Amino acid sequence: MIVRGTVRVPGDKSITHRALLFAALAGGRSHVGGALTSLDAKSSARVLRALGATISPLVPGRIVVVRGRKRFVRPEATLDCGNSGTTTRLLLGLLAAHPFRATLTGDASLRRRPMRRVTTPLTAMGARFEESAGRDGLPLVVRGGKLAALRYEQPVSSAQIKSSLLLAGLAGGVAVDVREPHGRSRDHTERMLRAFGYDVHDGVEGWIHFRPTGRLEPFDLQVPGDPSSAAFLVGAGTLAQGGELRLSGVGVNPTRIGFLDVVTRMGGKVFLDAAGEEGGEPVADLVIHPAPLQATEIVAGEIPGLIDEIPLLAVLAARAEGTTIFRQVGELRVKESDRLGLIAENLRAVGMLAEVRGEDLHVTGSERTPAGKVRTEGDHRIAMAFAVLGTLPGAQVKVDDMACAAVSFPGFAKVLRSVAVK
Ligand code: S3P
Repeated sequence: MIVRGTVRVPGDKSITHRALLFAALAGGRSHVGGALTSLDAKSSARVLRALGATISPLVPGRIVVVRGRKRFVRPEATLDCGNSGTTTRLLLGLLAAHPFRATLTGDASLRRRPMRRVTTPLTAMGARFEESAGRDGLPLVVRGGKLAALRYEQPVSSAQIKSSLLLAGLAGGVAVDVREPHGRSRDHTERMLRAFGYDVHDGVEGWIHFRPTGRLEPFDLQVPGDPSSAAFLVGAGTLAQGGELRLSGVGVNPTRIGFLDVVTRMGGKVFLDAAGEEGGEPVADLVIHPAPLQATEIVAGEIPGLIDEIPLLAVLAARAEGTTIFRQVGELRVKESDRLGLIAENLRAVGMLAEVRGEDLHVTGSERTPAGKVRTEGDHRIAMAFAVLGTLPGAQVKVDDMACAAVSFPGFAKVLRSVAVK
């Protein structure tokens, strides 16, 4: 397989969610260019409309216009967050400061995902929650109100927890201090808050301090390409037998590109070109050349910076010489699927070598031609990672559901076919 061409990957999912949330609470008209138009982004738009914002349709290539209001209105119906954990958890932070009841739900995958990780600290701030299913998950009723300041040590490193609490501080007008146990998760929320004049700064020993000093105003923002989507094409370019692939305008925020360090450490050839800035975020073109890979060890502190890229890195590890170990990746069990179990199960299903040992994932490289059936359980990143493995010469990888890629990367299969030619 040879790679070729230049691709503009879809807009960043994390930044699109945040841009829509902030714009919906800014009193006036905001414009979001380059926004992701995937199912997850549409989930954020849908629930924000139900809370009183006016948001133009999310259509590829079209600027999204958001007319926000300074406070949300009580929604008339249940808020359906679809498959999107980011929508749910960040919105819970904002709703914690609104004095009405709202019910949140989602698809079968989202309903299973843990929410106490945000409702516990939000309860400490003064919000009230009812778990209508009687367990940790959706549907969930939130009743917000006046909030108190919070100082909180997160049990897990998670940008969704951190952002939920910072957004509660923003909407409630109170100070929030948070700390993550190891590694630094993505910092898009902090960057945006700073752009609105809020005091968000790093303290000692990993503490992040937020003070409600700023003011949310309507804004114009250009969303960079999503490095997490780019990662799959980086993988295809690396596994190819020849050619060159260019991905233009990809966000290269240091808290998002841990996977590039790992790919490079494994022997991959990915170069950054045309570096610049877009919407307060660093961007660059990624230029990828095929390369043979060696195994590596990915330590716990690196995990938050590449959490969404582990399915793809595991696929690359299956083609590297030696055994790659991903340390402390238990968090993958509560993603859109039990991603940890599914990565190992599917690698074995296509004839590769992988096992979960405690909280670690071990993947041993093999030169066998991958063949077999892949069970995605509707998890977009599992589907895309295994589609990349399917580009190898002679591979017979049958992914049970490629449509789920539309959660974050609409048209992925077509893009992959256009850049990876047999
Ligand atoms: C996200 C944070 C990550 C990531 C998710 C998006 C975000 O989740 O897996 O796809 O936009 O904040 P955690 O922060 O819970 O690890």
